[in-house]
Amino acid sequence: MTRILARTSLPLPSRRDRLPLATPPLTPELRLHRADPASGLGRLASGGGAPYWAYPWAGGLALARYLIDRPETVAGKRVLDLGAGGGLVAIAAMKAGAGQATAVDIDPDAIEMVALNAEANSVAVVALCGDPLDGAPPAVDLVLVGDLFYEARLAARLVAFLDRCAAAGIPSLIGDPGRAPLPRARLARLAEYRLADFGDAPEAPATTSAVYAFV
Ligand SMILES: C[S@@+](CC[C@H](N)C(=O)[O-])C[C@H]1O[C@@H](n2cnc3c(N)ncnc32)[C@H](O)[C@@H]1O
Repeated sequence: MTRILARTSLPLPSRRDRLPLATPPLTPELRLHRADPASGLGRLASGGGAPYWAYPWAGGLALARYLIDRPETVAGKRVLDLGAGGGLVAIAAMKAGAGQATAVDIDPDAIEMVALNAEANSVAVVALCGDPLDGAPPAVDLVLVGDLFYEARLAARLVAFLDRCAAAGIPSLIGDPGRAPLPRARLARLAEYRLADFGDAPEAPATTSAVYAFV
């Protein structure tokens, strides 16, 4: 994986201005840059892919809430935030007392958002660009997965990766709003939260997102 320091269609200060800081749902302890109607999001996505990093997702928010409420889950540990987007889960882990948080995402724009959001929350996060799913288990104590079970092929690779991590003695926690590819038979539900899913209309009722242990 490559450590990306700066690669963007617009310089970081411009992104900082165009993606205002806001308090995300469920986690008032955090402040995250996020897109709003004035952001011109299309111009901020350098690779043309979906800008998943521009918003906190329901599964990540549930997992972040869980970690902040139960700091013993991460205290002093090395954690990997897999499919980090804007780095919400890694940042929550550091706020909760993790020893080191590494955020990995396949999208270089996400890595830059992690840097901006970590700075906004006064925490250090190691941000790496890449796809670790076909590789060896990482050198961490805990894998954190926020809202990454959104596509069937990706979900199958992710289960295989989490299985290899488990075989190496590395547990995994997953936050998810119940998307179709979620491997329900492999999960033990630990907590649940009511919140709107990303993309829901403002008047839509809150849905349930849960935090699971991968078993
Ligand atoms: C739905 S977003 C969730 C982001 C964040 N965890 C949250 O909850 O707000 C999923 C993220 O996973 C990333 N992703 C998808 N496949 C990946 C892979 N194979 N390796 C690393 N990141 C991946 C995407 O680029 C995207 O940023």
